[in-house]
This record gives sequence, structure tokens and C-alpha cells, in this order.
Amino acid sequence: MSDDSMGLKGKSALVTGAGGGLGRAHALLLAKYGAKVIVNDLGGAADGSGAGHSMADQVVEEIKSAGGEAAANYGSVSDAESATAMVEQAVDTFGSIDIVVNNAGILRDVTFTKMTEDDWDIIFAVHVKGSYLVTKAAWPHMREKSYGRIVMTSSASGIYGNFGQSNYSAAKMALIGLGQTLALEGEKYNIKANTIAPQALSRLTESLMPEFVHDYIKPEFVSPLVVYLCSESCDASGALYEVGAGAFCRIDKTRAKGLTIKPDRDISVEEVAENWQLINDTSEGTVMRTIGESTQETLKHCMS
Ligand code: NAI
Repeated sequence: MSDDSMGLKGKSALVTGAGGGLGRAHALLLAKYGAKVIVNDLGGAADGSGAGHSMADQVVEEIKSAGGEAAANYGSVSDAESATAMVEQAVDTFGSIDIVVNNAGILRDVTFTKMTEDDWDIIFAVHVKGSYLVTKAAWPHMREKSYGRIVMTSSASGIYGNFGQSNYSAAKMALIGLGQTLALEGEKYNIKANTIAPQALSRLTESLMPEFVHDYIKPEFVSPLVVYLCSESCDASGALYEVGAGAFCRIDKTRAKGLTIKPDRDISVEEVAENWQLINDTSEGTVMRTIGESTQETLKHCMS
């Protein structure tokens, strides 16, 4: 891209888990818009076992042969030393770390009844701790430069829950919280953090998605939003977007109008039960975007 209207030219980006699926598509598109990309991938299997170099190497080759700049990294995001090293590689190779796309992920799907502690821990290690470690390593560089763009990768499973994914949905929900808090703490340093819940065909999803939708859910239909969130021109922060198959939609939290009783007397269980419909009716609800708005709503009837 020659005009650099997105302000991505020369920016230094790290995309984790970029050896395939969504991460590969994000890395290729970032590079197309002029970003220099560290293509990180552990190169293991979809359940987190194994490792290898070929996935990251192949994406680096693709970027280079299209005229872009990229370097491979084979570390695991869940290992503190490796996470720091991939950020340092970006700084040493490209002079800074401006963009982090936390994308690396695995699945260990099993019902809660059959889940082992290992199934739980490895999902949290890769998704939550991995995103924490990589972002934590990049954070001081971004603060110092007063510039940063961070993307967390959540999931519809996190937003809505999904059968057989209690570990994964809990981890993916955690990333929404992390992204929102980083948006607040990064604000004065021009660090913007947003979260996506993508839908795309990849090795994690190909067995779950009917074949007739495969052409509509290419990872390439997710990356334009990710790359925009990584751009200088985008001022969104702390937001959550569902994205896939050509749909690009912000997701918000609605607080029901609900039941409000001035708490200057005891409140009974019966009052809660009798007003259950009102408590649950979000049709006249309000979208809440900050903890301040929510707290104000909770307390306002006490002041009258
Ligand atoms: P994918 O399996 O193609 O990509 C994930 C990549 O992360 C793989 O290349 C894998 O080698 C790498 N990886 C795994 N553990 C790693 C580690 N410890 N360190 C570094 N790299 C590691 O799958 P996909 O679908 O592209 O997933 C990308 C992200 O999107 C994941 O976080 C996933 O949970 C999320 N997601 C995907 C959805 C979809 O519809 N494909 C739906 C919702 C979320």
C-alpha cells in the first residue's frame, strides 16, 4: 500500500500464533499495509502438543515474497522467557514494538464432568497467561513511546458459553476483561486495546463448520478489522467486536431497567421472586460501557 492512509507503514508488529489460520491472515494483511511483522508460532498441534519451525517460516516466506518485511519466532507465548524474547526480537529487528496481536490458541474440548486440571491449566496458560506475558513484555516499550495497539482474541464461546468448552470459554472471557482494563490504563499513553470474537475456518473449527459455509468464513474476512484496530487511524479502545463471514459488529453489555428498591429497609427473597420478569427484562435496558456508568446506575435510586 503506497498512501499509508492507515498509518501502518514501518510499524513493528508481533502476531502470535501466526503460522496458520487467523494469525497468518492477520500477519499477511499487516505486512501488505507496510507493517514489519514478527511471525510467532510454536508450530504444534491444535491441542497444544508438539512444536516446529515450518509454520512460522512459511508465513515469513509468503510475506517476503510479496515484498514485505517479516521474521520468524518459534517461542511459546505461555513461557515468560519466550514471550519476552519475541517482543525483544521485534525491538531489536525493527526498532520498536508498536502492535501486538494476541492470537495464539489451542483447544482442549471436553465436558466439565470429564475435564482434568491439565485441560483447564493448559487452556489458561496459552490464552490468558500467554496474552498477559506477551502484552506485559511489550507494555513498557509502548508506554515509553506513547504508542501502542493491542488486540486480544476472545471467542463467542467466551461471550455466550459453549457446551464442552468450560475451560476455553472462561479463558476467552478473561481476555475481554484484560483488554478493557488495558484500554483504561493505556489511555494516557496512546495505547489502544480491543478484543475480537472471530469466526473463521481453521484447523480448530473445520470439523465444526458445515462445508457449505467454508468459503464464507475465511480468516481473510476477519483480518481487515484486526488490521484496522492496529492502525494509527483507529481510535477505538476497550471495545469488543464479533467478526467473521463479512460481519463486523460491536458487542455491548445491556443492563436491564430491572427492579430498584431503596435499600433503607430489609429486602426479602419474595420481592426478588415476584419481580423476576422485571429483573430479567432487558428490552428497556441501557448499554453500559464503563464501570462508572454501571456504578452510577446501581446507586442512583439511593440518592433520591
Ligand atoms: P489455528 O490453530 O489455526 O491457529 C492458532 C495458532 O496458534 C496455531 O498456528 C498454533 O501453532 C499457535 N499456537 C498454539 N499455541 C501456541 C503457543 N503456546 N505459542 C505460540 N503459538 C501457539 O486456529 P485459529 O482458529 O486461527 O485460532 C486463532 C485464535 O482465534 C485462537 O486464539 C482461537 O481460540 C481464536 N478463535 C478462533 C475461532 C475460529 O472460528 N477459528 C473462533 C473464536 C476464537
